[in-house]
Amino acid sequence: MTPSRSVHVRAPGKINVALRVGSARADGYHPLATVFQAVTLYEDVVAEEAETISLTVTGRGADRVPTDSSNLAWRAARLLADATGTDAGAHLRITKGVPTAGGMAGGSADAAAALLACDLLWHTGLAREELGELAAELGADVPFALTGQTAVGVGRGDVLTPALARGRFTWVLALSDQGLSTPEVFRAWDAQNPDPVPVPEIDAELMHALVAGDPHGVARHLVNDLQPAAIALLPTLQDVVDAFEETAALAAIVSGSGPTVAALAARPEDAAEIAAYVAAAGVASDVLVVSGPALGARLVESVVSDPD
Ligand code: C5P
Repeated sequence: MTPSRSVHVRAPGKINVALRVGSARADGYHPLATVFQAVTLYEDVVAEEAETISLTVTGRGADRVPTDSSNLAWRAARLLADATGTDAGAHLRITKGVPTAGGMAGGSADAAAALLACDLLWHTGLAREELGELAAELGADVPFALTGQTAVGVGRGDVLTPALARGRFTWVLALSDQGLSTPEVFRAWDAQNPDPVPVPEIDAELMHALVAGDPHGVARHLVNDLQPAAIALLPTLQDVVDAFEETAALAAIVSGSGPTVAALAARPEDAAEIAAYVAAAGVASDVLVVSGPALGARLVESVVSDPD
């Protein structure tokens, strides 16, 4: 028997530190100006040699994730196979750490990890830039999951420029067991903004505060244009934001299209108390402390097992 190979790749979830939205383009996508920060919540994808593409999912919120060809990681493997002309397959074992349908791009992280894992498993040898192009075909947030760290995104959010951020930022995340659908949140934004809206710019002071590693400055400029739409669909999100306001957190916003709410702590040592208060308020299904920036999709290990 030949030895079997597997490749383990890890990719991060993200917070939108700022998310500015303009009116939908002809293709239905909304032009964005956003600052992403990858955080220390990860999706782990192990790609094992197989005849065809298949997938299993375990971990946080796994019961809500499809395991057929509609899964974004499956589609990533398929796209890479088609783009490179390989007839190899892969069994993808996904372990979720990022909340499902939480506004933190967990599905996009799966897709980014699957692209890199299959590229290594199949020896298709694409450059990071080529993987980035395939990532953008899969979804607006997939390129950022590949690059990680802190970045400004424009276009659909997929045209990235790395941003400088000094030090580490400590975030407290309040999760909700009710998912929100991104297209629905954008439709609610459309209903709230019937007149044409040009996409606002990212505030230069936010970029300065990130470079300076100044959480107070960052907190003053946390902004999410999708927040009123997310709260219109899930009014209890306001209770979560209000609960954070009663703590030492500097500011709290809905992350991306929600429903995760992210609050910035001034210092790492403040985070446990903030988290305990919000957990006790009973407004969230789970409260987690994470930090950012985190690395983008990367190889954890590559294993060759001897069948004997
Ligand atoms: O690209 P992705 O599949 O992640 O986007 C999901 C949906 O979110 C899109 O089909 C669209 O309805 C909405 N969206 C948008 N504008 C963006 C990103 C996403 O309208 N910039």
